[in-house]
Amino acid sequence: MPLKKYIRDIQDFPKPGIGFKDITPLLLNPIARKETLHLLISNLKDKQINKVIGVESRGFFFGILIAEELNAGFIPVRKPKKLPFDTISASYDLEYGTDTLEIHIDAIQKGDKVLIHDDVLATGGTAKAVCELVERLGGEIVQCNFLMELSFLNGREKIAGKPIFSAITY
Ligand code: PRP
Ligand code: MG
Repeated sequence: MPLKKYIRDIQDFPKPGIGFKDITPLLLNPIARKETLHLLISNLKDKQINKVIGVESRGFFFGILIAEELNAGFIPVRKPKKLPFDTISASYDLEYGTDTLEIHIDAIQKGDKVLIHDDVLATGGTAKAVCELVERLGGEIVQCNFLMELSFLNGREKIAGKPIFSAITY
């Protein structure tokens, strides 16, 4: 099934000049969603992944489904001041300014095998910050896993050295 059919292009969202990839048609269709999930986990069997991270907010959708399939724990990495317990944080650059992501300090134990999932790999700033959080807590990054990769933005270069999988590439 050509999954790109279920990704809708929205021009000038959230700002003029930006072309937004809207995954809500894919979420709406149970067959396309199931196929996407199977693609996302296709090369993860036998990798002993015991923790799956979903990155707020659009990484939560498939993140929790992947964790369920792998019988692994699920970890929300969240935007600042959303997590109630003790956290560590990592900042990354945006077009203008910076943003920050946080994780609970007890989410990962040393030696955990961690899958990082997000909906999009764009410039790679988000993924790089999440990798930093995982490594600071002593986790091993098994794969950075994305529903879509916007390859023309070269986000891979920011997480060079990490195994990367993208279900759909533009
Ligand atoms: C978007 C997207 C990725 C990130 C990718 O999230 O969902 O998480 O940007 O961009 P990057 O590779 O250039 O860092 P956003 O921060 O817009 O928040 P959202 O998921 O809550 O919509
Ligand atoms: Mg996001």
